[in-house]
Amino acid sequence: MLFCKLHFKHESLIIIMDFTDVIKNRRSHRKFKEDIVEDEIIERIIEAARLAPTWSNMQGTRYIIVKNKSRIKEIADAYKQKWIEHVPMLIVACIAPNQSGKNINGLEYFTVDASICMEHIVLAATNEGLGTCWIGLFNEDKIKEVLSIPENVRVIALTPLGYSKYTPREQNRKPIEQICFNENWGTNYKF
Ligand SMILES: Cc1cc2nc3c(=O)[nH]c(=O)nc-3n(C[C@H](O)[C@H](O)[C@H](O)COP(=O)(O)O)c2cc1C
Repeated sequence: MLFCKLHFKHESLIIIMDFTDVIKNRRSHRKFKEDIVEDEIIERIIEAARLAPTWSNMQGTRYIIVKNKSRIKEIADAYKQKWIEHVPMLIVACIAPNQSGKNINGLEYFTVDASICMEHIVLAATNEGLGTCWIGLFNEDKIKEVLSIPENVRVIALTPLGYSKYTPREQNRKPIEQICFNENWGTNYKF
């Protein structure tokens, strides 16, 4: 069992949310209240990312917490979707490509490592009753400049973190029969 906290300004009401509820309740949130998430909650969320699996346990992902409004605006100005300007804070996940598996079956695993870590962040935030949104479309050069990220480090994803203003509607998903095969590609698995 996991515990989910409903936040009323500075007090929390703890309710029980199991893992299935966390998965089902996660949505992409794009409108937030101005309140900044408390550091103890941010720490729990980053701790979830710290425990994520990585190639050969290399743990290359780094997280930049951005609360400074002018920095957020600078990042947003270089970004095609202006809603980001109004988020209360961002978590930026970055990694140096040499801090993960290189050319493994022809794949570079640094994006996989950072993405798994980011999804731990997203699910841990959901468990805390907070909103997030994967952002993959951004101006990497601008973010690197604004946040003084070294040249050899890549920005993989960012997410706002905050108290959502709304409940986003559920987005369609393909039916399970369409995505799961039995033994061979294309043969439906019968549940
Ligand atoms: C890798 C990745 C990149 C994404 N990039 C963006 C983005 O740049 N901007 C945005 O508004 N949403 C972005 N999203 C959110 C998706 O649009 C969203 O997850 C999808 O529409 C399903 O909606 P849901 O998350 O509410 O279930 C991204 C999601 C993923 C996984």
